[in-house]
Amino acid sequence: MDNDIILDFQNVTKKFPGVTALDNVSMQIRRGEIHGLCGENGAGKSTLVKILSGVYPYGSYEGKILYEGQELRLEGRSIRQAIEQGIAIVYQELTLVPGMTVGENIFLGKEPVENGSINWDKLYAETREILTKYKLDVSPQALVKNLGVGKMQMVEIAKALSENAKILILDEPTSALSRAEIDKLMEILETLKSHGVTCIYITHKLEEFFRITDTVTILRDGKAITTRPTASLNQESLVQHMVGREMKERFPKGNRQPGEVILEVENLQAVDPNEPSHKVLSGVSFNLRRGEILGIAGLMGSGRTELVMTIFGEYGKITAGTIKLQGKPIQIKSARDALKVGISLVPEDRKGQGLILIQSILRNISLANLDQFSGFFRINQDAELAAAAQQGKNLALKASSLQAAVSSLSGGNQQKVVIAKWLLTQPKILIMDDPTRGIDVGAKYEIYKLMNELAEHGVSIIMISSDLEEVLGMSDRIVVMHAGRSNGTLEIAEATQEKIMALATGIA
Ligand SMILES: Nc1ncnc2c1ncn2[C@@H]1O[C@H](COP(=O)(O)OP(=O)(O)OP(=O)(O)O)[C@@H](O)[C@H]1O
Ligand SMILES: [Mg+2]
Repeated sequence: MDNDIILDFQNVTKKFPGVTALDNVSMQIRRGEIHGLCGENGAGKSTLVKILSGVYPYGSYEGKILYEGQELRLEGRSIRQAIEQGIAIVYQELTLVPGMTVGENIFLGKEPVENGSINWDKLYAETREILTKYKLDVSPQALVKNLGVGKMQMVEIAKALSENAKILILDEPTSALSRAEIDKLMEILETLKSHGVTCIYITHKLEEFFRITDTVTILRDGKAITTRPTASLNQESLVQHMVGREMKERFPKGNRQPGEVILEVENLQAVDPNEPSHKVLSGVSFNLRRGEILGIAGLMGSGRTELVMTIFGEYGKITAGTIKLQGKPIQIKSARDALKVGISLVPEDRKGQGLILIQSILRNISLANLDQFSGFFRINQDAELAAAAQQGKNLALKASSLQAAVSSLSGGNQQKVVIAKWLLTQPKILIMDDPTRGIDVGAKYEIYKLMNELAEHGVSIIMISSDLEEVLGMSDRIVVMHAGRSNGTLEIAEATQEKIMALATGIA
């Protein structure tokens, strides 16, 4: 037996009703390497790692997996067993309990117990130790629900690292992290690697593969297409393997002709409605034209999400400033008000705000639009089905049927459902908060094309994005936020990554 091989997949097949998520996968992972898994939405990446963590137990799939030469047999649905064997996983979707503290979350299910009760001092001391060790800037006593998505993700990682893992699996760990946090994570991974920990790394951000992985396996439609040293690939060849065809450009050319100003935001200031002493917006001004794509850039925590949530009536309490729609001041107090005047928002946190996971794709898509489909006494199901099917098709949604539960979709496909849902409201202004997070390169392209089409038909789009290439590739103008303020607006012709960063960090 080759001692260097820590995991050996032999003809692994995993089927769900109507879908073969993994199709005869054979691949090997070497001890101590950082092994990237890449592939389009629905390719089977998460399914593969869920088998490793025991979410899909032994017997629910065909084929076998050798772990250090022994057949891996994880029984039952508890992931504790995998953890005890040294396999830890950080999930794509956050799994923390919002009402608990950071420490309680990290030690959930393994709290230090003394004389029959939890030793809280010890729990928090150990929490602090882990956080310090990995230089994670979070307070052990903080409630998870008060942390931003970025910090929550860090707690997830700390939780997995607290287990002395031999194999650490990260399923899109950076989708919500800031640049600085990503750098920090990369450092952690290098440290773990130097200690011989094996890492399986899933991401849709191609540059991360090249930055951190030693080896890459490419999955397509449940099949392992190839495993090879990362150094033998470049962006183009990687993408070509993933999508099975050549992709020449990342951003489709649009033919947008922005018209008159339809939305004007002037010196908008707002506080946290739950904590009025906490100012979240301290002076934001910009305008939006008809048929324009306006990018909003800024660092994590600069107030981008707070800004759009405030405009949408779902969050901040406005203390000063005005919002004018087609020249008239408007007051939006709730999402319902916003929808009424033609403003829709694709939210950042799809699980919390976007979707009802146990409901069907169809119901989720039509949820925001029930008025449109209500006939007498019952929803017009045919119309609902036709509209949802059209949206699914536009977005290349990968699902066994529209009746399937959203929880059965891959992460990226869940995101597409959120987008489809808000597109159906036929907004005049569509706000998209990080719309392509967790979405593969091919599907990103489809979403960009759709954005172009909408804009060409006169819809105005506000797009928040942390991906500078995306902001530069898709926007007509870019508003850069810094510390709760709009720190400048750049015309696309003059915008560069350096100028955006200078405004975002407050240097300019
Ligand atoms: N619990 C489930 N029930 C039914 N089908 C499922 C279930 N989980 C996954 N699938 C299907 O299996 C396929 C693979 O999904 P998986 O989540 O592994 O994809 P992925 O590569 O992680 O995609 P993404 O990049 O979008 O996260 C998809 O077609 C998905 O719809
Ligand atoms: Mg996934």
